[in-house]
Amino acid sequence: MPAKSLEQVRNLCMRRGFVFPGSAAYGGVASFWDYGPLGVELLNNVKKAWWQDAVYARDDMDGLDAAVLMSRKVWQHSGHEATFSDPMVDCKKCRSRFRADDLVGAWVSSVRDEDMLTSETWSKHFKAHERVCQAMPEPARSQGVAVMREILAAHEAWWPLGKLFLKFDASGDESAKREMVADSDTVKANQRLKAATDAHHKFITENAVAFTAASFTACEVTCPKCGSNEFTEPRQFNLMFQSHVGPVSAAAGTDEEAAARVYLRPETAQGIFMNFAHVQRSLARKVPFGIAQIGKAFRNEITPGNFIFRTREFEQMEIEFFIKPPQFVAEGEKNDEQWHEEWVQQRYRWWLRYATPPSAGNEDMERIAARFRKRAQAADELAHYAKATTDIEYLFPGALGWGEIEGVANRTDFDLSAHSKDVPEEDLKRLKLEANKDSNEKFDYFDPDAKARYIPWVIEPSAGATRAVLTFLCEAYHEELVKEPTKQEIDQIKSDAAMIRKNAEKKIKDARKDIEAGKEPKHQPDKVEAFLNQLDDVVSRLPASLDEVLLALDHEGAQNLEPVKKFRPPTEKFIEECTRTVLRLHPALAPIKLAVFPLKKNKPEIVELAKSIKQKFQKHFRTVYDDSAGIGRLYRRQDEIGTPFCITVDFESLEDGTVTVRERDSMAQERVAIDELHDYLLPRLEL
Ligand code: GAP
Repeated sequence: MPAKSLEQVRNLCMRRGFVFPGSAAYGGVASFWDYGPLGVELLNNVKKAWWQDAVYARDDMDGLDAAVLMSRKVWQHSGHEATFSDPMVDCKKCRSRFRADDLVGAWVSSVRDEDMLTSETWSKHFKAHERVCQAMPEPARSQGVAVMREILAAHEAWWPLGKLFLKFDASGDESAKREMVADSDTVKANQRLKAATDAHHKFITENAVAFTAASFTACEVTCPKCGSNEFTEPRQFNLMFQSHVGPVSAAAGTDEEAAARVYLRPETAQGIFMNFAHVQRSLARKVPFGIAQIGKAFRNEITPGNFIFRTREFEQMEIEFFIKPPQFVAEGEKNDEQWHEEWVQQRYRWWLRYATPPSAGNEDMERIAARFRKRAQAADELAHYAKATTDIEYLFPGALGWGEIEGVANRTDFDLSAHSKDVPEEDLKRLKLEANKDSNEKFDYFDPDAKARYIPWVIEPSAGATRAVLTFLCEAYHEELVKEPTKQEIDQIKSDAAMIRKNAEKKIKDARKDIEAGKEPKHQPDKVEAFLNQLDDVVSRLPASLDEVLLALDHEGAQNLEPVKKFRPPTEKFIEECTRTVLRLHPALAPIKLAVFPLKKNKPEIVELAKSIKQKFQKHFRTVYDDSAGIGRLYRRQDEIGTPFCITVDFESLEDGTVTVRERDSMAQERVAIDELHDYLLPRLEL
């Protein structure tokens, strides 16, 4: 099993030096993270693996490293200055700030996801939508109400059939199901529901902004922090960080300030568009070809979070792949849709390749693949410039769930046209662009095969490097049982947990009394209760859930409970004996490739030989020497950070020139001659 919660990964990252909170000595700055000694290795390895695949492994790709700061005009003509914004609302009670669409999305799924197998939940969902429509201005109001009433009625008419479907599904009665599907009443009910569902989707898509705003008025949305349903009006908030070039003292909005204003780039893509002509001409590249870039991007996200999933400073790995516009594609050549599909496949394969360690068997591979999916964006999700976008998503643990890790977009000729002068009127109209009077370049290309000049179309695979780090960490994280605990040992944990519960229940009572008396309570009763629920759940699943016991004890509701403090150290020691944490990272991504240990640190000959092996390999890849604990503990430490191979030098090594090589995932050990180590390790590291 990969990580069960982001908390496990986050704890490991902080404990072992992958990721630290930024500016921690001053209390940190929300959502800025520093990559520590292991984190920077992992991040660099992710970028190296991407560059290898995107640039070196292809004949049609070149690299680029453009400046972070660009002319403000780039962001005006790309559309970012006007539209790169999210709707934001403030809770009037606790003053927390949220993305309006996130709150509405959370509300919609809270209504929808509870249990869609009951008719009441569906009815509740559509009635809630009708209430939202009632709060919309006319004519959307009447249209929306009619759409919602029809889908409610269509669903109610269909529901008896839906129940039968479920019944036949459960009993596996395929012939009854086939009979029912063929029945004319079923056909009619299905058709009516399909038409109503399409109309529902169309209405919400076409009225997305008004629907979001009305959701707040309809008071369905509550503040996740304090539960209030009073919010400020949604306001657009531009996500670009601003700065100024040179010393500027003028007030915001004045001509002087505006002329000096620059933005920290919110995507690396625009740097590539700016250099399309430079790269094409300097390398005499023929379309189709692409440019790859890795670099920092900055977004003043309204609700960053989920550890390093959404941050305000992050790294992107982007490709702009320039292709012929559809009208110039010759027979036998790939058109834009085929290029789009090719890149979706290439990028999907890359994610799977690096999420899968060489030790994975067929079943592991299937399980890993099931946590990555390709999802074509619906028409209402598409960015204004995109003809089609397929997101690659990963099933992150816990509440985060499916999250985008890369988007592969067909951006047509929007971007190069937006930055070009002299674009024909009909193209401007088609792309909904204004004529660019600032640019002194036309980003077109003379195609010697088509004997025509055109502005190329673009396929853009855009991945987050820091988000990839989180993805690979979540997938690689495993806690394994290495020693079966006895029944007695499990009973001991259960009885300790019962003692914790008894004590905590008393604390909850005391805290409630304090609150009633208007005194500051020593404990937060709700949090302690949440902790007890988690502990009960873990204890009820022992011994399988042994690896989750410490996670439960880390719950914020467990803090300052005396029995927890007493229980933790021996439990930690016991769990350490029975389980191991191992990062099953692909060896090419592993921060440290090889660790060398001496069996005895007080035997100079053994130490010397171990250090000489370390020196031999550190020229090729990250190798460490460690003699700070017993061999068993040293193995555990390296397992926890994903080191694929450990070498132990012992007395036998001095005699026959062999060492023990231990593989991380199988824990298998074999003797290998020191002279053959290089040939043994290199293919297995898949560098
Ligand atoms: N040029 C297109 C573009 O920037 P995007 O979907 O906004 O598209 C691409 O971003 C990728 O960048 C995402 O799939 C994600 O992996 C990463 N990304 C975007 N915003 C991020 C953030 N705030 N923190 C971390 N990664 C982010």
